[in-house]
Amino acid sequence: MPILNFGSLNIDHVYRVDTFVQPGETKHTKSYMMNSGGKGLNQSIAAARAGSQVFHAGIAGRDGGFLVEKLRETGVDTSLMKPSTEVSGHAIIEVADSGQNRILLYGGTNQMLTEAYIDQTLEAFGAEGLVLLQNETNLIGEIIEKAAARGLKVALNAAPYSNEVKSFPINLLDWLIVNEVEGAGIAGGEADESLLQRLVELYPQAGILLTLGSRGAQCARNGHFASIGSCRVQAVDTTAAGDTFSGYFLYGVLHGLSLADTLRLATAASALCVQRPGAADSIPTMAEVKQALSEGALSVPEVCEW
Ligand code: RIB
Repeated sequence: MPILNFGSLNIDHVYRVDTFVQPGETKHTKSYMMNSGGKGLNQSIAAARAGSQVFHAGIAGRDGGFLVEKLRETGVDTSLMKPSTEVSGHAIIEVADSGQNRILLYGGTNQMLTEAYIDQTLEAFGAEGLVLLQNETNLIGEIIEKAAARGLKVALNAAPYSNEVKSFPINLLDWLIVNEVEGAGIAGGEADESLLQRLVELYPQAGILLTLGSRGAQCARNGHFASIGSCRVQAVDTTAAGDTFSGYFLYGVLHGLSLADTLRLATAASALCVQRPGAADSIPTMAEVKQALSEGALSVPEVCEW
């Protein structure tokens, strides 16, 4: 089943620092890199490197030609994308020695989708497939409604969290992908052990993937629950780890893998991602994931199911 990702594209400006800059502080950085990124672009690349057929939809600005090229060279179909003379979205990313990041976003052309473009793109995509969204573009609620009305499956990665997320028609989703902050924002209350169950009770029609960073991930679908820890690896840059997990996870569920096998695959892929610097460029191919698993380079934890 093909994926149509109405996804953000960002020019990532990445600064390595020992520790994050503090309020009122001016700090020298250790290095600077300009990379291809954006949760949308990263997830298209992750799903394609896993083996999915992916169409990326979105608007590339006058400075975003290399982002489109990155998608193309990965095998993502960019024929439904639109160019613009405005500037592309960008991200200012600090990566600390711990491997953790801090990200500031500027929306640029990611926030310029129109209803006419959405209608035309959905029409061209056809009647079968999954529409994927992240919370880095405009008109998300409208895309969910239009895609669901056409009988397409819809998955939303509600990242990054904003108050607007609660107004989206989450009741129309086939998959809701969240981390603890996003999940608690949607469900209300604490990000505690009951969070997955509370999301399932609120949105029983949706499969739910709850990612927990270095503590792994949990998911639920049709009354079946599964959880996994994470691989013990030395993280150099966690940017795009969540996107890698999402892309591989969707590959698994759309290709009929069990939840347990899907979680194992996504966990292995994101463990490889965090050991490399960058966003899109740090996402492994399926061949690399399989090789790491067969060589015993990754120790993937047991999946717990209930
Ligand atoms: O998830 C990582 C991504 O978040 C980065 O590539 C950055 O562009 C932001 O969108």
